[in-house]
Amino acid sequence: MTRAAPQLPDFPWDSLAAAKARAAAHPDGIVDLSVGTPVDPTPDVVQEALRRAADSPGYPTTHGTDELREAIAGWLARRRGVTLDPRAILPVIGTKELVAWLPTLLGVRGTVGFPELAYPTYEVGALLAGAAAVRGDSTVAWGPIGPDLLWLNSPANPTGAVLPEEHLAKVIQWARTRSTVVASDECYAGLEWDAAAPSLLADRLTGGDHTGLLLVHSLSKRSNMAGYRFGFVAGDPALVAGLLEVAKHAGLMVPGPVQAAAAAAYRDDAHALAQWDRYAERRAALLPALATAGFRLDHSEAGLYLWATEGRPCTETVDRLAGLGILVAPGDFYGPRGAEHVRIALTATDERIEAAVRRLTCPEEAVEPPFGASSG
Ligand SMILES: Cc1ncc(COP(=O)(O)O)c(C=O)c1O
Repeated sequence: MTRAAPQLPDFPWDSLAAAKARAAAHPDGIVDLSVGTPVDPTPDVVQEALRRAADSPGYPTTHGTDELREAIAGWLARRRGVTLDPRAILPVIGTKELVAWLPTLLGVRGTVGFPELAYPTYEVGALLAGAAAVRGDSTVAWGPIGPDLLWLNSPANPTGAVLPEEHLAKVIQWARTRSTVVASDECYAGLEWDAAAPSLLADRLTGGDHTGLLLVHSLSKRSNMAGYRFGFVAGDPALVAGLLEVAKHAGLMVPGPVQAAAAAAYRDDAHALAQWDRYAERRAALLPALATAGFRLDHSEAGLYLWATEGRPCTETVDRLAGLGILVAPGDFYGPRGAEHVRIALTATDERIEAAVRRLTCPEEAVEPPFGASSG
């Protein structure tokens, strides 16, 4: 007999349809700042590597090519202060997929912990594994035993908060006296504005001992490669070897041309720095406009989102902004503590960000909802 499908939460984005319709009715079109999907071109260096690898008749290697893992190790050393044996790196098809399946792949049955305000897939991963999904931000919240798997996310989605070195050091010490595996989702690494976001695996913090620690990174945001579906998990050699073993059997290989493109992306920092500049300008344009429109920002030091509040329920703010033709994500998508915040993404073209700035600072551009539409 098959096991009943696990009870998953409602897919939150479906509930934004009415606000989206209202925002789309703006005569100058919608400014969609609700999702964090990159809009700038995939860098030429990456596209070229993909094209060069297009002739790909054989199966790719599950562990990734040496070229790829060396490129990743080089980037980790150069940009993240992490020294790692390339054998302790496993490429994955997108980190959403990894986040959703890591508890299952690790055989977690007890508890998966993740931040109070968090990317929803951490919870989904716990439920798919049949584990308990528990929110918490401090080691005190976990009690003497601790979860089997604890997710950290810095820079954070949705808040843009970073975890300082002292916090990471404390978590490492705490986890070493328990059997908790700590997985650090660093997919917004490098997109740092007002505070630096150190890696959990930084040599300064681990002293080179990665036991029980995993680092997850994705090229979706750093290199505008969300469509390529590429990320990696690295760290504790025994854990990575176990994940590789499962991947060999289950066939979760990253396509060969994507591996070649990812290697080119990790070797090149220039495109990531150029992308940083673009987001920094968009952020600098939005900050004063949001202040003029009566918003307070919390955290928002790093990452691709501004975490904004008017001190009222997030659905009301979503409605108000939809009336200006701007779509944002309600904070309660990310946990109950987000009930009075909205998440505003920096991932829109310069032209759309300028439109948002105009609408926030000249609200007379607001439009009435289309006949019959209600944002609920
Ligand atoms: C915190 C966090 N982790 C992981 C992901 C997944 O990224 P991808 O599947 O594109 O690698 C996202 C995507 O927005 C995210 O915000």
